Amino acid sequence: MAYSEKVMDHFANPRNVGEMENPSGVGEVGNPKCGDIMRMYVRIEDGVITDVKFKTFGCGAAIATSSMATEMIKGKTIEEALKLTNKAVMEALDGLPPVKVHCSVLAEQAIKAAIADYYKRQGIDPTPLVGEI
Ligand code: FES
Ligand code: FES
Repeated sequence: MAYSEKVMDHFANPRNVGEMENPSGVGEVGNPKCGDIMRMYVRIEDGVITDVKFKTFGCGAAIATSSMATEMIKGKTIEEALKLTNKAVMEALDGLPPVKVHCSVLAEQAIKAAIADYYKRQGIDPTPLVGEI
């Protein structure tokens, strides 16, 4: 199966790539299947994700899913962002080849890790809110 046009677009022109000064939270996750790494930065104001940036040391599918995921959580509440699944991101990209499904998990986990870090910085235990990452 080939990559969809949306995947190719988000791979070639990824949205929200970069770093952030003074983020509200930073999450870094690694993919046990391939060793690829992703770092996600979030800015949270009044419970809303007002900005998000990511950097990926990983494959094209990881870049495309992260790019799409950042677009999908920008402007959303923390609760909405935590509900974003890798399946929803894949659907928004018109699908991924089966061998690349694990790449989409990285974005979902990185968002959760960044929000968990945000809670930790407030002295709040993130586990009941975010779950295990
Ligand atoms: Fe080769 Fe991810 S394992 S690009
Ligand atoms: Fe590792 Fe895609 S091959 S994230």
